[in-house]
Amino acid sequence: MKIVRTVSELQKYISEAVAKNQTIGLVPTMGALHAGHLSLVDRARRENQVVVVSVFVNPTQFNNPADLETYPRTEEADMKLLQAAGVDIAFVPTAEEVYGDTPDTKQFDLGTVAEVMEGAMRPGHFNGVAQIVSRLFLWTRPTKAYFGKKDFQQIAVIRRMASTEGFTDIDIVACPIVRENDGLALSSRNVRLTPEMRKYAPTIYATLTESLEDRRQGKTVTEVIESVTKKLNSIPGVKVEYYSIVDPDTMLPVDNWNQVEHPVGCITVYFGDVRLIDNITY
Ligand code: PAJ
Repeated sequence: MKIVRTVSELQKYISEAVAKNQTIGLVPTMGALHAGHLSLVDRARRENQVVVVSVFVNPTQFNNPADLETYPRTEEADMKLLQAAGVDIAFVPTAEEVYGDTPDTKQFDLGTVAEVMEGAMRPGHFNGVAQIVSRLFLWTRPTKAYFGKKDFQQIAVIRRMASTEGFTDIDIVACPIVRENDGLALSSRNVRLTPEMRKYAPTIYATLTESLEDRRQGKTVTEVIESVTKKLNSIPGVKVEYYSIVDPDTMLPVDNWNQVEHPVGCITVYFGDVRLIDNITY
């Protein structure tokens, strides 16, 4: 595996691959890698001749400086995992290498998919995601790019960015959520949970799963939102930021179950000061 820290070196390897007509799979990450990330890497490995994984804690997508500061950074362990997974190129740039010495001011036209939920709670977040992913697309020119459904809205935003920015030849692949045995969605932020909060955190997925049954029993969309929110908020130290049941294409809330074939319930919840995100398909 080559560890590449500059854009010019990355582009040299990409040109070589393109000259050989090789397919390129890209997996963008912010490091602190776990089995969720590795499931994307494994899929990219199976489906492409060259696999590129980027590891970069992208400052422009953090609207909260404390979150950026405390974001876990585990480069040595990450490189071992990527090497073992058969990755060809680990792209590990600095912020200066990615953005130069001037901050990126480009505003993307992300439309309504970026306005609700995470877009409403974290101003500028998705624009920052678009800034980094569009650069990675430009430099890597992947055949396929892999993203996890854990960040369900992010995939819709990236699809939108790809279509407005002319990356229509890149196949954007949405991969299933990887969970702990107790149901907690794997996240780099899970290590920040206190032992007590870690004990309660599986309640998120348990509550979402129970709500599938509530729907079958005839509860309305509004009733399900209320009961999910109430159940989680009853745990001390836990606060639901939002629970929205949305159309998976537009990200806009549905009023009733039959509005779309498979509505998706998207949740963000604070366990202490750790912000966790999950979703379920109805
Ligand atoms: P990061 O949070 O590191 O996640 C990298 C990729 O791994 C994302 O596509 C995310 O959805 C996926 N992922 C994380 N946890 C997962 C899980 N439990 N199961 C399946 N997939 C999972 O998302 C980002 O970084 C950044 O916003 C990025 C796209 C890299 C841009 O900076």
